[in-house]
Amino acid sequence: LKKTTIKVGILTISDTRTPSQSNIDSFDSSGQNLIKLINDSNVIESAKVVQYDCVTDDFDLIQAKMTEWCSERKVDVLLSTGGTGLSPRDVTPEATLGLVQKLIPGISQAIINESLKFTPMAMLSRAVSGIYEKTLIINLPGSSKASEECLYVVASVIPHAVSLIK
Ligand code: MTE
Repeated sequence: LKKTTIKVGILTISDTRTPSQSNIDSFDSSGQNLIKLINDSNVIESAKVVQYDCVTDDFDLIQAKMTEWCSERKVDVLLSTGGTGLSPRDVTPEATLGLVQKLIPGISQAIINESLKFTPMAMLSRAVSGIYEKTLIINLPGSSKASEECLYVVASVIPHAVSLIK
């Protein structure tokens, strides 16, 4: 990795896409698609995915993984995908809110504004964005299509945001 490379972590948050004994064949298409867009298509300038994992919709598991990646692995950007909706198990925004020290409401607002051009369902995402330690955390919705559309909304501002945080 070049010195200037922006380190990205992709955290998929989903009960159904996280492999388990009862769920052997699950496949995380959203997370894999985001990795491809960043690592192969260079959607975010100078960025590479260095951490990837999948966890169930569990508050403590989400916070534990986020804390590890921010404090120990020192990722510059943590993009989560999934768990931002209205179902009882969706707790990604709450777990993120419990961690971040500064909110960046404009990022999530921009995501919703642009997403409304694709679907009115965009208003059902409760996704949040903020800073924990030196990491920019952005919640994206869970489907492959939705997370890709939202990545494109924020991609151009990420390098400048990262440079300001450091
Ligand atoms: N945003 C975009 N850009 N495209 C989409 O298709 N789907 C919405 C919304 N945001 C969507 C979108 C839907 S249907 C839901 S329920 C919410 O994101 C929350 O998704 P999640 O629970 O998978 O995080």
